Amino acid sequence: MRNCKVKLAVTEQEIQEALSLRRQVFVEEQHLFDATDEDEHDEESFFINAWKTESILMGTVRCYPDQEDPFVWWGGRLAVRAEYRLRGIGVYLIEAAVEEMKLRRVRRFLAQVQQQNVKLFEKLGWVTVGDVFWVCDHPHQIMEANLHVYDAPNRKRRQRLVQD
Ligand SMILES: CC(C)(COP(=O)(O)OP(=O)(O)OC[C@H]1O[C@@H](n2cnc3c(N)ncnc32)[C@H](O)[C@@H]1OP(=O)(O)O)[C@@H](O)C(=O)NCCC(=O)NCCS
Repeated sequence: MRNCKVKLAVTEQEIQEALSLRRQVFVEEQHLFDATDEDEHDEESFFINAWKTESILMGTVRCYPDQEDPFVWWGGRLAVRAEYRLRGIGVYLIEAAVEEMKLRRVRRFLAQVQQQNVKLFEKLGWVTVGDVFWVCDHPHQIMEANLHVYDAPNRKRRQRLVQD
């Protein structure tokens, strides 16, 4: 998509924008949580945001380390604002998160994926791990990214994301 800048959130304002979009999607739209979807993982997360302009946030995703194994990371709370869906922004965000994991030399990158989104992740090379389980009455599936594919052409893009 034209006019999409994917970058790490560095300011408090950028993080608050991400939290606000998440609330809109996971609390108000999906009713997955009652009042807030924020949890203990937000403290140690970094956020990747997709911007249309400096003030219009189209999507976001967070990544945080596993509590027991620092070489295992989790992605989550992937959300694209409703009016910007099906334009490839979800894919940009997932790919940016995977690239960031590669840069950090993470061994495994996992996500709790809502059942209806499993196919989207499979298209991007993720595989299912274990059985379906339920979170707040919604079926979920743990999935794992393939961090070991060779992708030299993407290296420049990765460096740009980190520097921006
Ligand atoms: C899931 C979500 C992040 C996808 O974002 P998006 O920007 O609409 O997705 P994209 O446009 O990048 O999708 C790319 C491709 O995946 C497909 N796709 C998107 N959502 C899909 C789904 N739920 N199941 C199967 N395919 C899907 C698109 O059709 C498109 O296919 P194509 O490349 O063959 O045309 C977005 O729909 C959303 O925010 N949903 C509400 C919150 C949510 O469910 N978050 C994910 C929690 S695991």
